[in-house]
Amino acid sequence: MITKIAFMSSVVILLLAACSAPQSLPSGPTPIPTLIPATDLGSPLTETAQPSYPIQSYPARLPSAELGFPLYQAHCASCHGDDGNGVVPGARNFGDLDYMRGETPAFFYTTVAEGRGEMQGFRDELTSDELWDVVFYVWRFSTDTETLNLGQNIYEENCQVCHGLDGTGAVLGAADFSDLRVVDDQAPRDFYLVTTQGKGSMPAWQGRLSQDERWAVIDYLRTFSYDPSLPGEVVEQPPPTTVPEESGCDPNYLTQTNPFDWNDSAASIAGQVIYDQACGMCHGVDGSGGLPGTPDYTDAAVAQDLRSNGGEKLCVVAEGKESMPGWKETLTEQQMWEVLTYLYSFGK
Ligand code: HEC
Ligand code: HEC
Ligand code: HEC
Repeated sequence: MITKIAFMSSVVILLLAACSAPQSLPSGPTPIPTLIPATDLGSPLTETAQPSYPIQSYPARLPSAELGFPLYQAHCASCHGDDGNGVVPGARNFGDLDYMRGETPAFFYTTVAEGRGEMQGFRDELTSDELWDVVFYVWRFSTDTETLNLGQNIYEENCQVCHGLDGTGAVLGAADFSDLRVVDDQAPRDFYLVTTQGKGSMPAWQGRLSQDERWAVIDYLRTFSYDPSLPGEVVEQPPPTTVPEESGCDPNYLTQTNPFDWNDSAASIAGQVIYDQACGMCHGVDGSGGLPGTPDYTDAAVAQDLRSNGGEKLCVVAEGKESMPGWKETLTEQQMWEVLTYLYSFGK
């Protein structure tokens, strides 16, 4: 029964992976189903009617805030202001984070292409690639270089191991953040929720990263699908923060002992379900080690060390260590002991 559950969850993970399998950008504009233009709402499209405008398409290169800048100056600044705070009635302040964090690039693209309220549509004046550039220039009002640099450091320290240096995903199930088609309808708030609470094998970051740090890493994450450079901007890349993370281990973990017998097979089986979803990708399905630095638990001496220093290992699982994320927001202490009991079973 339990193995059946484990098996089924791997199937689900595989299916998820298949749905979000990394795809590279197409070599040319790719049409996607477009929304009914706001201006045409009075005359509903019939089944055969074809929209008479170039339909929404994705760019063949990264949209660029820098290329969007002159377009914004020429077509948008008169109403939206040089700094995006809105000069005509009804125009939003693009620097207002409360507002921007609920918006998506896809919605902006459609709005600018088709028009909205007092604003005309620009689909006849700007090419699709230009629309994306100007949309991401607008987007850039919601962050700044300092925040992006902070986000990059956090990303490289905490997220890269699973999401990849280029954001395309390094482990099964991790979405391709560089593919605009995958992320254009995600608001920062959607990303924030997953980052805070965790999802599937992705650990929760609440408690490990402050709110500001989580928002910063999300601003950075977005830049896998657009180039945030601005005209004349000197992007200083600060050296990665190497502040050694004090092992700040809660003595409450260190002093604990395994509430289960180390040979308890029910605990071990429960631990296996967790291990397969949350640990095997880095530690190896058979526990023999995967990523650099992971011990070989099939080695009896390593398993024995685990058993003798259970509190210390519990602490690593709870708080994380180096590139290993902590699980205290995701797993209960009992679950952590179950998975440690399973880990021990590899080497006994
Ligand atoms: C004539 C003034 C005017 C010009 C020019 C203009 N806008 Fe707008 N824009 C508005 C107004 C007013 C709204 C609010 C529309 C509404 O919600 O009814 C708006 C809305 C928007 C929105 C969506 C905000 C929201 O939540 O409704 C975006 C994004 C946007 N404009 C971007 C642009 C870009 C990019 C350009 C240049 C290519 C541009 N606008 C040109 C007046 C203008
Ligand atoms: C242990 C591996 C791992 C680490 C570390 C990790 N993630 Fe994830 N992340 C995943 C996986 C796997 C998914 C897909 C989860 C699912 O859909 O079930 C995911 C999903 C996400 C999503 C949702 C994507 C979508 O398409 O909805 C966001 C956002 C995200 N991660 C951000 C982060 C951030 C930010 C960090 C670092 C602070 C991080 N992740 C660290 C594995 C990881
Ligand atoms: C993103 C990859 C990754 C994931 C996911 C992961 N680990 Fe780790 N783990 C590591 C790395 C790398 C180390 C070595 C850290 C070091 O010592 O520098 C480690 C170390 C450990 C250690 C301490 C080893 C020792 O003796 O010092 C334990 C115990 C452990 N992991 C258990 C787990 C458990 C249980 C899970 C699942 C709930 C898990 N890990 C998930 C990468 C990962």
